Amino acid sequence: MTHRDRRVVVFGSTGSIGTQTLDVVERLNRQGFRLAVVGLSVGKNVRLVAEQVERFSPEAVCVRSEEGARFLRERFPGLRVLVGETGLADLARLDEAELLVNGLVGAVGLVPTLAGLALGRTIALANKESLVVGGELVSEALRTGGGSLLPVDSEHNALFQCLEAGERSEVRRLVLTGSGGPFLRTPPEALERVGPEEALRHPNWSMGSRISVDSATMVNKGFEVIEAHYLFSLPYDQIDVVLHPGSVVHSLVEFCDGAILAELAPSDMRVAIQYALTYPERVDTGLPRLDLVAASPLVFEPLDRGQYPAFAAVLAAARRAGTAPAAINAADEVLVERFLRREIPFTGIARGLEAILARWDDREPSEPVTLPRLLATDAWARRAAAEL
Ligand SMILES: NC(=O)c1ccc[n+]([C@@H]2O[C@H](COP(=O)([O-])OP(=O)(O)OC[C@H]3O[C@@H](n4cnc5c(N)ncnc54)[C@H](OP(=O)(O)O)[C@@H]3O)[C@@H](O)[C@H]2O)c1
Repeated sequence: MTHRDRRVVVFGSTGSIGTQTLDVVERLNRQGFRLAVVGLSVGKNVRLVAEQVERFSPEAVCVRSEEGARFLRERFPGLRVLVGETGLADLARLDEAELLVNGLVGAVGLVPTLAGLALGRTIALANKESLVVGGELVSEALRTGGGSLLPVDSEHNALFQCLEAGERSEVRRLVLTGSGGPFLRTPPEALERVGPEEALRHPNWSMGSRISVDSATMVNKGFEVIEAHYLFSLPYDQIDVVLHPGSVVHSLVEFCDGAILAELAPSDMRVAIQYALTYPERVDTGLPRLDLVAASPLVFEPLDRGQYPAFAAVLAAARRAGTAPAAINAADEVLVERFLRREIPFTGIARGLEAILARWDDREPSEPVTLPRLLATDAWARRAAAEL
């Protein structure tokens, strides 16, 4: 069995990462790979997953609700249909499923990440919340289970590639790039009035709604700092962020001799998804190539934390560690939904995160972080954010 013929499970197959992953799998199979999609997981979109079942003939599908499960069981009598979080863990344990692509959104993604790593599986990880919420648990599962993570997030995929050029001890710092989102040039006083349509309009990437809003507040960049901290085992002092509105340079690594290595690629998630699927091999993606002259000049700017108070709140939570990042993630999920429903203004997201962090109180700071403690924090922060 090589990396070219593997059994693959795609979590969140109806989402932006999930649908692109399935397209990449089909394309790779036309180029001589034999990747078998043996499992799919979705939330509510059972109609789309029904089409995917016809396209890929998986052995099992996990859906969020019993109602969705009934629909699939009636339509596909031979299909194993799993439900909810237990179903996600069972899907991660599917026989000989060597590669799990985690494209779920939110803290729920931690469930299959931990279940897969416990069995020593390889996880192509897009779900950054696995590390934001459960970074300590995931690190422990990596140490004890023998599995591995391949980063799909474009910045971390870039760092992963650059880091291959040296030893971890030779790294001076990681530099994550961020476009600054749609409100880079918007005066802070005008942000009070921006609506969901403007926040969802990312200048360079087409993504799911939560990550699009998180890119506008830069909560997403804060999460990526936490993600990098756990993925590459480096302290926060060695992880910087620089604004790069063009999204051409996906991230950089500075080594101790002053050399900086960068990864440049078209702004298309299929590049990173495919690298995670074919690693360590490189294969033609068939996508338009990056035109260096057209992409010039490459502009970098400092990140103004005053413009992005939500970013500062996430970093403050990261430094407090323990259950603080889980609290911020849960609160952000609720606040983003409330903003999309027009219940709170855009600036209410940052104010809400600051308020949650001020109220957060880790009652057992010296105790190890456990799943029950994370879940209790998650539930508390959701309630608190809903009531703000
Ligand atoms: N999109 C990107 O370009 C991009 C780039 C870098 C990193 N990421 C990260 O990748 C992850 C996925 O992002 P996305 O943009 O692909 O999100 P998305 O388009 O919103 O898709 C999320 C997927 O998760 C499923 N889902 C949501 N809640 C669920 C629940 N409670 N139980 C089970 N399934 C659930 C959804 O199912 P239904 O739609 O069927 O309900 C959908 O399949 C996020 O962590 C994001 O930060 C995304």
